[in-house]
Amino acid sequence: MSEKKRILTGDRPTGRLHLGHYVGSLKNRVALQDQYDCYFIVADLHMLTTKPQKEHIDALRENIHDMVLDYLAVGIDPSKSTIYLQSAIHAVYEMNLFFEMLVSLPRVSRLPSIKDMARAAKMEDEAIPFGLIGYPILQSADIMMPRAHLVPVGKDNEAHVEVTRDIARRFNNYYGDTFPIPEPLIGDVPSLVGTDGQAKMSKSLDNAIFLSDDAKTVQKRVRSMFTDPNRTRADIPGTVEGNPVFIYHDAFNPNVDEVNDLKDRYRKGAVGDVEVKDKLSAALNTFLEPIRERREHFASQSGYVEQVIYEGTLKMQEFAHETLSDMKKAMGFSGVWNRISRKARDRIKKLEKAKEA
Ligand code: TRP
Repeated sequence: MSEKKRILTGDRPTGRLHLGHYVGSLKNRVALQDQYDCYFIVADLHMLTTKPQKEHIDALRENIHDMVLDYLAVGIDPSKSTIYLQSAIHAVYEMNLFFEMLVSLPRVSRLPSIKDMARAAKMEDEAIPFGLIGYPILQSADIMMPRAHLVPVGKDNEAHVEVTRDIARRFNNYYGDTFPIPEPLIGDVPSLVGTDGQAKMSKSLDNAIFLSDDAKTVQKRVRSMFTDPNRTRADIPGTVEGNPVFIYHDAFNPNVDEVNDLKDRYRKGAVGDVEVKDKLSAALNTFLEPIRERREHFASQSGYVEQVIYEGTLKMQEFAHETLSDMKKAMGFSGVWNRISRKARDRIKKLEKAKEA
């Protein structure tokens, strides 16, 4: 194994990825894939925490394909990084159970992110499944499976990495140094607002611009974006701070002079929304064009995405087996069954010999 430190992060496969995913985590992944050994998880088990019904399982095939295509389109390179399917790593189910013993119920049930996910899934508090409370514990098993050092995630996942740190510390404390204490790495725009200006960008709120949207769709989305609601005419001075149109300009328009000029004129009431928005669509489309091209390129090779996932998963299965076995050795747990079975087999052999004699 190489001397590089390791990254683990990933996403639930609920469909195509959007600009929020990009600035929150994907950008960091692409930037760091030479410096770190990277593991990117397709977290289908985590999807089950809020979407356990058959219809969602049936949608996985297409959703996984679309999501991994987005990974490849933004520049995640499978010759450097391992992309794998969570549910095919058997060790993760087992590790999850051991970690459940190392964290208190209030520690995880109080996390706002759990309530947020329940709300997004239209679940009453009383209907929250046990598995959703366990979400950060399963995530901890993901992170510690390749003994990751760094976890690039959006702001909404920061508290989960904190839980992972707690579990890793407790494990090392009980059973001896086994896991690195992982650090979260939050993107430059920790939580990108949606086009509605009301909530964070999310597919379920219909306020997202997807990495795979075509130029026309992007332009339409931007044209209908929420801006400063007090600015009913172009000659009324507007507010730039917290205005989603300018948040996107800052995040995606590399032409800083153009952005500063627009902000200047917006504050003075000397620019129309249409100009601000058209320049934003142009910048977004320039940013998205190479992503769309790579997406097309990989999409046209039938079975390629599946091969990437297959090979990554086989590699991860080996790593996972090794980690789980080291973990059980550290706990002194692998010996329990081994000792029982050894003694039993000895006796069975002896009885058989006695019968023969
Ligand atoms: N929680 C992530 C999400 O919001 C998905 C995920 C599962 C993950 N396991 C992980 C992220 C491990 C980082 C590390 O979709």
